[in-house]
Amino acid sequence: MPSKIIAKKELIPGRTSLMLLDAPHIAATAKPGNFVILRVGEKGERFPLTIADLDEKKGTITIVFLVMGKSTAVLNAMREGESVFDLCGPLGKATRIHKIGTVVCVGGGTGVAAMHHIAKGHHLAGNHVVAAIGARSENLLLFRRELEAFCDEVLVATDDGSTGHKGLVTEVVEQRLAADKAVGEVVAVGPVPMMSAVVKTVKPFQVPVTVSLNSMMVDGIGMCGACRVSVGGETKFTCVDGPEFDGYLVNFAELQQRLAALKDKEKLSYDNYCKCGHHE
Ligand code: NAD
Ligand code: FES
Repeated sequence: MPSKIIAKKELIPGRTSLMLLDAPHIAATAKPGNFVILRVGEKGERFPLTIADLDEKKGTITIVFLVMGKSTAVLNAMREGESVFDLCGPLGKATRIHKIGTVVCVGGGTGVAAMHHIAKGHHLAGNHVVAAIGARSENLLLFRRELEAFCDEVLVATDDGSTGHKGLVTEVVEQRLAADKAVGEVVAVGPVPMMSAVVKTVKPFQVPVTVSLNSMMVDGIGMCGACRVSVGGETKFTCVDGPEFDGYLVNFAELQQRLAALKDKEKLSYDNYCKCGHHE
């Protein structure tokens, strides 16, 4: 069903935006880890976005998206008061949240926004939440203040050292795990190479790792097969079996290959959209 854009904020101009969408039915039932599928127009493709936050009383959900292709560019051109053509959700399995003590929630780039909702869930369950967030530079770092508002610790890494630790987010994760062995779980959301690197980093510490996968999706209900991934040698559908999986079992190389195969098509449709003068 259509959903009105209640508020829009460009977090990183031309690259990443946040929207509050009017979606009372979703806000009333969504849990951390759930996602929605949007369509910006009648003929538009369907694409998934993880719910970054929600306000049950106001009946709104928060989405944060990186402009990657035509559909996200069209969404980014929409203004407050306009409506997305179709919003479907909540979809996917919710994050498995229980009281386990200390949880390290790792977010990279745009994935920090999706991780925010999961971290909040762990905080509300009474866990000690350590957020570890990484971006290429300070101006690309999302949700730092929002995480600082409730997390017990917020560790920051930037590739260029403009704020926090100079280096990859995995380096602060490794330092944190080395400092305190009593970590019950690590959760990672972000680019596939980052999630794969988090698994490799955490493995020597023998801590469980949950990753949230960003597979390509079409129907979001397990019928089309677009979102298939290999987990523990079995084919799983990210939309209904995930989006969260045991990081040690995910075939990241295959997932990366599938996403890369779609990148050229995505770029072509985006370039054509820009050539038509739709993009300033
Ligand atoms: P990016 O490439 O700028 O990376 C952000 C940070 O992640 C880096 O600064 C670094 O700290 C860490 N990182 C990246 N690669 C790493 C590696 N190989 N080893 C260790 N750490 C690494 O991030 P971006 O451009 O904002 O990322 C966008 C990607 O995130 C898109 O591909 C998008 O699909 C994905 N994403 C995933 C989800 C999800 O649910 N998994 C949600 C939102 C976005
Ligand atoms: Fe179609 Fe998952 S999106 S099976």
